[in-house]
Amino acid sequence: MSIRKCLFPAAGYGTRFLPATKAMPKEMMPIVSKPLIQYGVEEAMTAGMREIGIVTGRGKRAIEDHFDKSYELENQIAGTGKENLLAEITEIIARCRFSYTRQVEMLGLGHAILVGEGLVGNEPFGVILADDYCVASPDSVMQQMVKIYEKYQCSVVAVEEVSLSRVSRYGVIDGVERDGVFRVSSMVEKPRPESAPSQLAIIGRYILTPDIFEILRKISPVSGGELHITDALNVQARNGGVIGLKFSGSRFDCGGLDGFVAATNYTYDTLKMKSGV
Ligand code: G1P
Repeated sequence: MSIRKCLFPAAGYGTRFLPATKAMPKEMMPIVSKPLIQYGVEEAMTAGMREIGIVTGRGKRAIEDHFDKSYELENQIAGTGKENLLAEITEIIARCRFSYTRQVEMLGLGHAILVGEGLVGNEPFGVILADDYCVASPDSVMQQMVKIYEKYQCSVVAVEEVSLSRVSRYGVIDGVERDGVFRVSSMVEKPRPESAPSQLAIIGRYILTPDIFEILRKISPVSGGELHITDALNVQARNGGVIGLKFSGSRFDCGGLDGFVAATNYTYDTLKMKSGV
């Protein structure tokens, strides 16, 4: 069975981008002229996922408006040279189905995913954190992950080797490499460098089997009430149910200024090269 659905946790505040994110969702920050979340949705589509579930929060209505018709604007630019600037988003709206739910309290990624259960139901699904902007070809990162899912029929996490000084920002896997993938035995959430099981950090791309919801309901929150997706994945990993894929391609961490600026420069240069300017 192919994976039809992709969940986008998008309730976070984006405080690192204040004041830009005071009234605008961080997922709407543009890399050149396209919002981060649109890149994420385009990636989901390359992997065949057309049912897009977005977990939003207060102040995020711009996301819903973005993935909707804008009659007045479309009417205004109809027949002008600017019409093609909306071609991509118009096609996305035509080909995907969007549904939304709100995360009322920010209680971690595990909680956001559990809130999305109603949008996903009882089937495997992708998760994309739009902050992580991934560039890969010919296959997108999510396409690479779907291929692994089809082979192993279990949860898949995308991993990237990071420097030891950065492991404390991520969930980090322990596992054995075989046939080009990692059989994950366990994961540690944001370890100190000296206790990290490896330097393979989980980035914002997941394929999850639906038993994750039941597991998320059962595990205990960490102090502060947050539910870590890593803790739920650890339960699956104990039964051999998690594969780590060291994807090919590049990732820009657009949750921070350095990654955001690097992604902007990269995308701008690529666009300029394509247009031959
Ligand atoms: C979350 C996960 C972490 C993962 C990261 C990827 O952390 O808890 O395991 O490595 O996403 O972006 P957060 O960024 O929400 O702190």
